[in-house]
Amino acid sequence: MSGLRRGFATYTVRVAQFQAAQADTVIAPSLLAADFARLAEAAEAVDGAVDWLHVDVMDNHFVPNLTLGPPVVKALKAATAIPLDCHLMIEDPARWAVGYAELGAYNVTFHAEACDDPVAVAKDLRAAGSKAGLAIDRDTPVEDYLEILPEFDMLLIMTIKAGFGGQSFIPELLDKVRTARTHASSGHLDLRIEVDGGIADDTIAAAAEAGADAFVAGTAVYGAADPADAARRLRARADAARSSA
Ligand code: DX5
Ligand code: ZN
Repeated sequence: MSGLRRGFATYTVRVAQFQAAQADTVIAPSLLAADFARLAEAAEAVDGAVDWLHVDVMDNHFVPNLTLGPPVVKALKAATAIPLDCHLMIEDPARWAVGYAELGAYNVTFHAEACDDPVAVAKDLRAAGSKAGLAIDRDTPVEDYLEILPEFDMLLIMTIKAGFGGQSFIPELLDKVRTARTHASSGHLDLRIEVDGGIADDTIAAAAEAGADAFVAGTAVYGAADPADAARRLRARADAARSSA
C-alpha cells in the first residue's frame, strides 16, 4: 500500500471512530405536558419513537409547582418499558433521589442548587443502579460544576427557568451547553448533555449545534395531534443539526 493510501485508510478509520464516539440522539418527551389522568396511554403513544420518558418531579418548595412523586413513578415503571428519565426539582435530593433509582428509574437528575454535596448523591445513585444527572437552572453558571462532571452521566441544562412547561426557549442559555460540551470533549468525558425547556421544531437544531445530545420536549410532543410523529420530527432535526455541526 502506498504511503498516501495508507494515510487515507488511517484517516477513514479515524473518521469512523469519531462518528462511533458521538452518542445517539435521545428524545425524551416530558409527561408534564400529557394528561395526568392518562399517563400510561401517554407513554404508549410515543413507544417506539422515543428513547426516554422525562418525568418532572416538583415538590412545591424548590419550584412553586407540584406534580408527582415515587408512587406515580412506580406505577409508570410497571406500565411502560420506556426508560424513565426522572428530573427532580425538589429540595433535599440527598434524602430523596436514591428512592427513584431504587424504583427502577433509568436516570435520576437532581438540581445542583438544592444540594451541598452533589458528588455524594451521584455515587448513591450509581450504587443504586441508575445513571446520575446533575441539573442547573437558568441562573446558575455552569463553570462552578465543570470539575465534578466526571462523577455524572448527564448534565441537564435548563433552557428556561425550571418549574413550568410551555415557556419560551432562552437561546442565550446555549452558551452553557457550548462550555460544557467543550469541557467534556477536551476531557474525553462520556457525558450526555440534556436541554430542557422550550425545545420544539424551531429551537432543537440550535441546541443540537451547541452540543446537546438529549432533548426534553413537553408541549412540542404532547401538544401535537400525533405525539410519536412530533417526536420523530424532532429527532430528524436534531440528527441533521448534529451531523452538520
Ligand atoms: C419544566 C420541566 C420541563 C417541561 C418542559 O421545569 O423541567 O421538563 O416539561 O416543557 P416544555 O417542553 O413545554 O417547555
Ligand atoms: Zn424537566
